[in-house]
Amino acid sequence: MENKEFQIEEFDIKLDTEEIGRQFVYIQHVDSTNTYLLNNKDLKIHGTVALAEEQTKGRGRMNRDWQSQPEQNLTFSILLRKVDGKKINIVNLGASLVVAQAIENLYQLNTSLKWPNDVLIDNKKTAGILLESVSKANELDRVVVGIGINVNQTNFAGKYLIEPTSVRKEFKSRVSREKLLSEVLNLFEETLYKIDEKPEEVLEDWKERCKMIGGKIKVESTKETKYGIFEDIDNEGFLLLKINDRVERIHFGDVSLR
Ligand code: BTN
Repeated sequence: MENKEFQIEEFDIKLDTEEIGRQFVYIQHVDSTNTYLLNNKDLKIHGTVALAEEQTKGRGRMNRDWQSQPEQNLTFSILLRKVDGKKINIVNLGASLVVAQAIENLYQLNTSLKWPNDVLIDNKKTAGILLESVSKANELDRVVVGIGINVNQTNFAGKYLIEPTSVRKEFKSRVSREKLLSEVLNLFEETLYKIDEKPEEVLEDWKERCKMIGGKIKVESTKETKYGIFEDIDNEGFLLLKINDRVERIHFGDVSLR
């Protein structure tokens, strides 16, 4: 498979933000861009983005691995320094929303979202998000939004919880990682402003793309499995699961239709 190194200049021309991605760290190999931004205390600027061509210990949600072929995809993390703790789940949902919007804007593909933050094309997983944070004296100090997008990879060996795909597989043509990353970051900055001022709009946009709301679902965590109706997302971004006549607020887990 043809590999092409990420062209920072090409990306930079299309970046139209004030803060997000203005400080940009390009790395050939790293364990995980999330770990890098969480631990590297010299990097302090809100909006710093670290992009790696290869992660040797890419991490996914619920202690899973994130596999990604070198130079084919986008594996990057965004450092945020000014997030209101009460809105952290909305930032998480917002990140998946902007990845879906960017793919739609650039490639006119139909995307959908799966709670909390999987981006699907044709019910196959194209991107995932891992949000992690560090607090100091009960205040969020560093929030790291890690995003993995399958961009140009075409073969996915191994076992996956949800069948994987890539933008290229669905678009039937190689796509520009530089263009996609700049679109994602441009939209993410706008969405962060919206989360400050009108978080309900971000939640509405997210819900519009989630096909599971109203359906019978199964929510699995490492501890237990719950069955019910996916009633809604509340104003803090938690899933509301209707179990018989009561509604439970779900903080994390894997959701699937049953
Ligand atoms: C998931 O769907 O389970 C989340 C996957 C998140 C993967 C990204 S790739 C960049 C960043 N660094 C990591 O180690 N993980 C996230």
